[in-house]
Amino acid sequence: MRTDGILDSTFYRNRKQQYPLIEKGEGIYLYGKDGKKYIDATCGPMTVNLGHGVREIVDAMVEQARKICFAYTGSFSTDAQINLSRKVMEFTPPGMSHVYFVSGGSEALEYAMEAARQYFLEKGEPGRTKMIGRWQSYHGATFGTLSIGGHTNFRKDYDPYLMKSPHVPPPYCYRCPFDKTYPACGVFCAKYLERLIQYEGKETIAAFISEPVSGSSMGGMTPPTEYYPIIREICDKYDILMIVDEVITGFGRTGKNFGVDHWQVIPDIIVTAKGMSSGYSPLGAVIIHEKLYEMFAGSRQASFFTGYTYAGNALSCAVGLAVLEYIQRNDLVKQVARMSEYMFGEFDRLNRLPMVGDIRGLGLLLGIELVKDKKNRTPFDASMNVAGEVEKRAFDRGLVVRAGHGFINAVDGDLVIIAPPFSVTEDEIAEILDILESVICDVCGH
Ligand SMILES: Cc1ncc(COP(=O)(O)O)c(C=O)c1O
Repeated sequence: MRTDGILDSTFYRNRKQQYPLIEKGEGIYLYGKDGKKYIDATCGPMTVNLGHGVREIVDAMVEQARKICFAYTGSFSTDAQINLSRKVMEFTPPGMSHVYFVSGGSEALEYAMEAARQYFLEKGEPGRTKMIGRWQSYHGATFGTLSIGGHTNFRKDYDPYLMKSPHVPPPYCYRCPFDKTYPACGVFCAKYLERLIQYEGKETIAAFISEPVSGSSMGGMTPPTEYYPIIREICDKYDILMIVDEVITGFGRTGKNFGVDHWQVIPDIIVTAKGMSSGYSPLGAVIIHEKLYEMFAGSRQASFFTGYTYAGNALSCAVGLAVLEYIQRNDLVKQVARMSEYMFGEFDRLNRLPMVGDIRGLGLLLGIELVKDKKNRTPFDASMNVAGEVEKRAFDRGLVVRAGHGFINAVDGDLVIIAPPFSVTEDEIAEILDILESVICDVCGH
């Protein structure tokens, strides 16, 4: 029984928390049944990129629902799937050629890892089984994605089930894991991938998987300019697939179509989800380079075993198509780049606060790292749960932001993330900033 007297049998993720009932959403705002209004400053978990209640998307959904919602893609295709696959290719870097639609990010990464496995089986290199991930990354909540993920706290309960996946340290310049300083470091964090491959044995490695700009785990951590060109070179040298997780960064969030476009490198596989359907319907995608597709096209077996019931779901594909058309029609990727400059310019004022250590990110993805001692970059004691407290007090004041924890050493590290919809206005940014600044000051006692 809820405190508001409603009988509710939902198994919520936090059973001590009360979840306000949301009745409707409009743009950046969510409206509770109790009359309370929330600013959804992170689009849920960086998902509702177009904002809530966009009429065109709902219309496209209804139109598709009237025709066909589900035609099993083990037997059929639909216009919705075909049209979306063509539209996706208008956004991707050159050379990407085919796309497989799934229901979300974790599923897309699982599929990408299986595609990598199949690729090396086809090549006659069955020993290439390991997927290298990066510490402090987040790729999903399944056993496979937790294995490549680097969030120790999420991994620990499931450790006995995880695959053998080596990890490299992240390009976290604010606290370099190698105690170096950019640019004198020579971007050692990227070069370290080669060393790890050598330690593990190149014949055992299938892929390297990373988020170009980190989302929830490191809040907008952005590698230096040289990072991905070096990674690409190493992957090529050892014939390892470069997989980028663009579940958050895909389709405009960073001010370019894909996050990896900032480095102008071409990955072998792009995994994406969230903003692709803007959360109006569950959707994810695995986009593969023609080099892989050619291998599969000429393969000994015509199909993968893997196939999900909801893969290529017609309703979700119609939503995805409407979202991508909306992004193009309204030139939203450029709009994100423009608003990004404004947002980062305004948020710069937080830098004068003694507890704001680092403000990072790209496009409309901004992370604020909170610290106890700015000069020495000393984190707050984890037991204080500073970011969690900021998230909670902001929520009480009607501002939804996301907190991140434990990204420094699996224990310490407080982070607050802002990722508003692409339609965010200057006034809305001002509103977010005012509330957030006052909450941060309240929590940190200034
Ligand atoms: C970068 C990244 N990859 C993968 C996922 C997993 O996506 P999903 O929750 O849709 O399974 C997430 C989810 O937050 C994510 O942020």
